[in-house]
Amino acid sequence: MQESIKFFPETAAAGAAEVDLLYYFLIFVSVVMTVLIFGAVAIFAIKYRRRSEDEIPKPIEGSTKLEITWSIIPFLIMLVMFGWGAKLFFDAYTPPKDAYNIYVVGKQWMWKVQYPEGQREINELHVPTGRPVRITLASEDVIHSFFIPAFRVKHDVVPGHYDEIWFTATKPGRYHIFCAEYCGTEHSGMIGWVNVMTPAAFENWLAGGGAEGSMASQGEKLFQQLGCSTCHLLDEQGRCPILRGVYGSQVLLDDGKTVVADDAYIRESVLNPNAKIVSGFHKDVMPTFQGQVTEENLLQLIEYIKSLAVKKTNTAPVQQLGPKVPGKAPTGKTQ
Ligand code: CUA
Repeated sequence: MQESIKFFPETAAAGAAEVDLLYYFLIFVSVVMTVLIFGAVAIFAIKYRRRSEDEIPKPIEGSTKLEITWSIIPFLIMLVMFGWGAKLFFDAYTPPKDAYNIYVVGKQWMWKVQYPEGQREINELHVPTGRPVRITLASEDVIHSFFIPAFRVKHDVVPGHYDEIWFTATKPGRYHIFCAEYCGTEHSGMIGWVNVMTPAAFENWLAGGGAEGSMASQGEKLFQQLGCSTCHLLDEQGRCPILRGVYGSQVLLDDGKTVVADDAYIRESVLNPNAKIVSGFHKDVMPTFQGQVTEENLLQLIEYIKSLAVKKTNTAPVQQLGPKVPGKAPTGKTQ
């Protein structure tokens, strides 16, 4: 693999070639402009050099035509750069809805990977060819950056919220994962491998592990252990909102705003329950779970709540949850 120094890493994902093409274009424009500018400097220095002590050059009147030309042409070239770059950017940040989700948590100094089916691994990532894969990125401590050169994807992993990248791998093989953000002593050792497999081999691999059960079932266990289930009852109103069918829905808050119940919202609700109170419920009923759950736990809880969404029976777009009468909310249980 390292037989020669390459200017570009291998391309093993759809769209990687397009990224390279834009890069070639930028290099091409830069080289042409550099040659033009330095060439003109050299030629003019020779052509218009002072030939005698008393030589006085003719005054320059200026040329509107010339000035417009050298303004418009670079402007158009830069518009191409902007348009082309924006297109690739939006492609890179818009994962398809049906993408397969994998969760990666950066931690000094390793990448911890979880699959919805329950497999977990460290510094190894397995993905199938031909299927869009979305990676949800979280950090347990400091800023890392998840970088797979062969796929031309790189994204900072910032603690406190979720980031996301996606790709469709095209070529089976083993490719490097790097941490591209200095994150402490062993930053340079925060290296992993992505194993691109054929879909059949990937299914096989997926079926082989996951002794602890799916992420959703691990999340369900946590949901019981942490006592979430004593207030968030599954089918009747407890002290806290029913979570069945909540994932992905619009939630009405007590300030009249609505919010989509996505990963970020659930994460915030676990760590900082008072940040957004569902309409009809109260502040300070739910304690914070900050420090009690790891980022991996949070992702398991989210997968569990996601799995509850599937069994949704009604499809009301706005979840009007909970009793409106304040006195009705507590069920007598106290924590
Ligand atoms: Cu993690 Cu550098």
